[in-house]
Parts: sequence; structure tokens; C-alpha cells
Amino acid sequence: AAPPPLVVAIDGPAAAGKGTVARLLAERLGLAHMDTGLLYRRVAAAALAAGARLDDGPALAALASALPPLERTPEAELRSEAVSQAASKVSALPPVRAALLQAQRDFAASPPPPFRGTVLDGRDVGTVVCPAATAKLFITASPEARARRRLLELQARHSEPNPGPNAAAAGPSGPAPAPAPAPAPSLEGVLAAMRERDERDAARAVAPLAPAADALVLDTTGLGIEQALAAALAHVRAREAAA
Ligand code: DC
Repeated sequence: AAPPPLVVAIDGPAAAGKGTVARLLAERLGLAHMDTGLLYRRVAAAALAAGARLDDGPALAALASALPPLERTPEAELRSEAVSQAASKVSALPPVRAALLQAQRDFAASPPPPFRGTVLDGRDVGTVVCPAATAKLFITASPEARARRRLLELQARHSEPNPGPNAAAAGPSGPAPAPAPAPAPSLEGVLAAMRERDERDAARAVAPLAPAADALVLDTTGLGIEQALAAALAHVRAREAAA
């Protein structure tokens, strides 16, 4: 029989580097990658578009069970601050988490061919989604370091020409009017928004943000991407050898 698929679970707070490490680990090890936060972001974007209340568990779970094709919403929109905060709110609702759980487990159990395994990153992958993962990492960094990284990302995006939401999907009435440019982000604003989201993600009753008991905690505050990746690779290889 084929060996069970390799599963790497990566959790941590926003902008700690987990997405970057997950993507690079997947590339280096030839694994498929799922950004599980994107699932919650898609539910949040659908809820905002439908004008749904962000505390209506059953209605939001119905949206989660019928997400539109991924390519329908531009990724920049899914990464906006409004969607980030809404994702953090909808992800605290047990029916929403339940509606998204099986798709994540299926992905880990049956990697899309030709991949021999998967990397999933999120908040509860090592604790709830894949408690039997081959290797677990909890990637964190100081709030200030994370806010600085997020600010750089936002500034890079801010200086790009903005095609506006759904520019590629204009309806029969023609393109929507261009939105007013967003105000330039500040470090204080980014830090405050991030703290609010971290507190909500860590304080919720169901699947709160927390390291699994058997996760390697990797603090990337003083590390570059190459150093963080090297530490993550060493941990995964050691766990895989011991499996
Ligand atoms: O990783 P991210 O910042 O894209 O995630 C957006 C929100 O989704 C985050 O604030 C909490 C939620 N989330 C979650 O509850 N569980 C996950 N596995 C991933 C994300």
C-alpha cells in the first residue's frame, strides 16, 4: 500500500510569516499547499457582499457550504482589512468552522496528484484539523515585527494601480464607479487592527489560536525568510524520518 500522505501543519497569528514559510516549504518538498485562512476570508467576503450579519452562524455556514469558484473574487479583495476583520468574526462561529472542516481534512488525506503530501497553514491545523500531522510548526513573531511586515505589504499594495473590486466582472450596467482611494495605512493603525484580530482569534471558545503540544514554536522576529525556512525544513525532515 502507498505510505500515508505527509502532512505539515503550520499555525500562528497574522503576518508572522506562516504563509510564506508554508508556500516555500511546499515548493521545496514537492507538497500541495492550502491556505486555510483563505476559506474563512471567502466566507467573510461572501457575507459582506450579501449584506449578511456577521454573527448569524447558520446563514454563514450555508454560505460556507456553497462558496463560489475561487477565481470569482480577486485575491487583493480577500486580503483587505475589512475582509480580515470579518473573517476573524465569522471564524469564531462553530457552524462556520464545522462547514469548512471536512474540505480541509479531505485535502490533507488525499493530496491532489502528483503530490505526496500537503502543507496546510492557519490557526487550528495542528490542534483540530490535522491533530495527527507528520510535523507541526507554530510560527510567531512580536506584534511590532508583524505589524511592520503587514505595513510594508499594505504600502506595496497601496502604490499599485487599483482596478477596483470586481473590475473583471462588470455586469450589464457597465463597470462600477472607481472606489475612493483608501487612506495610506499607518503603523499604529495596523498594529491596533492586528491586536484586535489576534485577541479575537485566541479568545474564541472553539479552536482558538494556540500551539499544539507537539508543535515546534518558531519565533521569526529576528529571522529572515531563508533562516525561518531552514529551521522549518529541518524540523519537517526530522519528523518525517522519525515517522
Ligand atoms: O490566516 P489569515 O489571516 O488569512 O486568516 C483570516 C482569519 O481566518 C483569521 O483572523 C482567523 C481565521 N482563521 C481561522 O479561524 N482558522 C484557520 N485555520 C485559518 C484562519
